Amino acid sequence: MKKKPIIRYVTIAAFLMLPLGAVYLYKKQSEKTQNEDSYEVGDENLDEIVDGIHVRTGLVAADGLQEVITNCTTCHSSKLIVQNRMGKEQWNATIRWMQETQGLWDLGDNQKIIVDYLTTNYPVFKKGRRAALRDIEWYTLDSD
Ligand code: HEC
Repeated sequence: MKKKPIIRYVTIAAFLMLPLGAVYLYKKQSEKTQNEDSYEVGDENLDEIVDGIHVRTGLVAADGLQEVITNCTTCHSSKLIVQNRMGKEQWNATIRWMQETQGLWDLGDNQKIIVDYLTTNYPVFKKGRRAALRDIEWYTLDSD
């Protein structure tokens, strides 16, 4: 019977703490969202160029970079571009293929700028594959 008032005080205290807890959680949450925002929108580092490479996309910083970023990195990663070495004809064919089957828009004057950028900065590898093997001593597999 004597303990009852204490329990009452504790209960009241607990209820008084509730809003504090809520405010704390709310603040924490909004700080978190603010931090996330600062990585995405309005970050000047998005167009940072280090050692001639556009950091965000990994593309070579050269004439036509902006056109390539605008037109070629919305549907897929720029890695897909960097990994493909093609000549002018092949690039035009690839672009036509994407236009006919993947919904790539008409690039207009930018097509020449983009293809020039690609063939200049990502030229076809001199050796696409290893040289053919020569002077091999073949041996027969016994099958018994
Ligand atoms: C409208 C969407 C879209 C746009 C914009 C786009 N592509 Fe693609 N592209 C695709 C799709 C879809 C594929 C197939 C992806 C896959 O196979 O995973 C593809 C594939 C590729 C490939 C690989 C082709 C192959 O034979 O494997 C290359 C290279 C490429 N795109 C380059 C570009 C370039 C350069 C541009 C800018 C002119 C561009 N893409 C813009 C949709 C697009």
